[in-house]
Amino acid sequence: MRVLGIETSCDETGVALVESGRGVLAHALHSQVDLHEAYGGVVPELASRDHVRRLLPLTRQVLAQAGLAPTDLDAVAYTRGPGLAGALLVGASVAESLAWTLRIPALPVHHLEGHLLSPLLAEPGLGFPFVALLVSGGHTQLMRVDAVGAYSLLGDTLDDAAGEAFDKTAKLLGLGYPGGPAVARAALGGRPGQHRLPRPMAASGDLDFSFSGLKTAVATLVARVRPDAQGIADIAHAFQEAVTDVLVAKCTGALRATGLTTLVVAGGVGANRRLRERLDAACAGLGARAAYPPVELCTDNGAMIAWAGLLRLEAGGDPASDTADGAFTVLPRWPLEGLSPPGRGRAADDQPAG
Ligand code: KG4
Ligand code: ZN
Repeated sequence: MRVLGIETSCDETGVALVESGRGVLAHALHSQVDLHEAYGGVVPELASRDHVRRLLPLTRQVLAQAGLAPTDLDAVAYTRGPGLAGALLVGASVAESLAWTLRIPALPVHHLEGHLLSPLLAEPGLGFPFVALLVSGGHTQLMRVDAVGAYSLLGDTLDDAAGEAFDKTAKLLGLGYPGGPAVARAALGGRPGQHRLPRPMAASGDLDFSFSGLKTAVATLVARVRPDAQGIADIAHAFQEAVTDVLVAKCTGALRATGLTTLVVAGGVGANRRLRERLDAACAGLGARAAYPPVELCTDNGAMIAWAGLLRLEAGGDPASDTADGAFTVLPRWPLEGLSPPGRGRAADDQPAG
């Protein structure tokens, strides 16, 4: 079974082809980082227009790379939400039209389910159940994953997401956008122990997170020390250590609380090497193991969407497109917990949070 995946929820146009038993056949990505850099964040209207420009050329490109024709496809998966409404509509329109033309199913996929299941793309043998840490620009969640579509929330952020904290810290340090990779790079030259930043809620006894206080602490520190290049590296280092400490503490807490021994890490912040190092060490100490998607599949991409669509299709089929008349909707706000396992039809709670 071959599935084309289309991701347009935010500022990356991702297109990929996956095949059961073979994994990724081809994938292509266009990042809009340059487009939004001058604004310090994503401008939704510019994002939508750029998706319009990129999507069909990228689709042709992955088909050519894989040596396939559109008629070789068995389904087209696309990100239905959560994300920017206009950006989602571009991917949904192209995917639904393509599927309708080819008379194959269109599979609307939850963006976070894509992230969540992406480590299985590299390690198909990874078994359920596991604990998943989802750390992206918009989300910081710990989930218990019992099967495709069976997710229970263990912990969530009360304010900023981890990636958002990286992005805001990068801005405060003048390191540009997107912040995560920039802060990680700067931190490499930072001297350990120069600054001590708070570890918000690390010892709160639950599995929830809070990162807005950390961002405020960085702002205060920057105003006080007015850092030069070395000072910026020192603060980036201290910040990365603080975030990592909190994430590690919560992940070990979740493994202990559930008694599970596999931790799956997904989402953009999962590309952070220091975080991976620390999680590997912490898991080893618990007799557990951590699994990650390949670094290039941590941030948004089409392969994770194609893969989630394929897993759902194989596990009993999905209700796919909403109606016989070809109408479809996107869900800019869509709680992951509301998803139902494949084959059970779409639950009433697979609906926007409002
Ligand atoms: O999953 P993703 O690509 O998009 C969302 O769905 O949000 O995650 C993007 C987030 C951004 O906040 C970015 O700064 C962060 O992931 N990120 C990183 C790294 N690479 C990306 N954060 C820390 N270290 C990295 N190496
Ligand atoms: Zn994402």
